[in-house]
Amino acid sequence: MTAQLTAIQADITTLAVDAIVNAANESLLGGGGVDGAIHRAAGPQLLAECRTLGGCPTGQAKITRGYLLPAKHVIHTVGPVWHGGRQHEPDLLASCYIESLVLARKHGLRSIAFPAISCGVYGYPLAAATHIAVAQCRRLTNQCSDIDTITFALYGAELLRLYQQELAGGG
Ligand code: APR
Repeated sequence: MTAQLTAIQADITTLAVDAIVNAANESLLGGGGVDGAIHRAAGPQLLAECRTLGGCPTGQAKITRGYLLPAKHVIHTVGPVWHGGRQHEPDLLASCYIESLVLARKHGLRSIAFPAISCGVYGYPLAAATHIAVAQCRRLTNQCSDIDTITFALYGAELLRLYQQELAGGG
């Protein structure tokens, strides 16, 4: 059976899933936004493990333990900064979702939560980012049955509405 995709308004650090995805930067050494929230909630051991990873290129993903988080693992992915859409931003954002799911499957993880990657500081237009997130997650989970649930943990009513619209749209 294919994975269940749902969108909720939630602080992703509170979700007790196999993995939450962090919208990180290429250093993997923390930051603001959801990155800052995840590091604060996970505790200092998360940064200590991140320091051993040697960073992460945009569009790629790396996995750590979750430490003090209710989630077992954190999958750190680096979204593109929006520069107008002509510097491969759509492909790089799509790659964040694909690579995160590939990594989750590799580690036998069955429940995963995503924030709205690149939709904060990195300035990605919300509707376009939402379409990429849902379309890529739906495409990958239609091809496999080893992911049970994908939760989009959103901040803000506009993103929740956009995700719910996209999820209702079938597609
Ligand atoms: N739970 C869920 N979503 C959150 C949380 C949270 N605790 N905190 C923030 N968000 C939302 C933001 O409101 C936004 O919609 O996550 C989305 C992504 O925003 P950012 O965290 O700014 O991430 P991004 O736009 O990808 O920018 C990444 O910001 O924090 C730095 O180190 C990070 O340099 C990197 C950059």
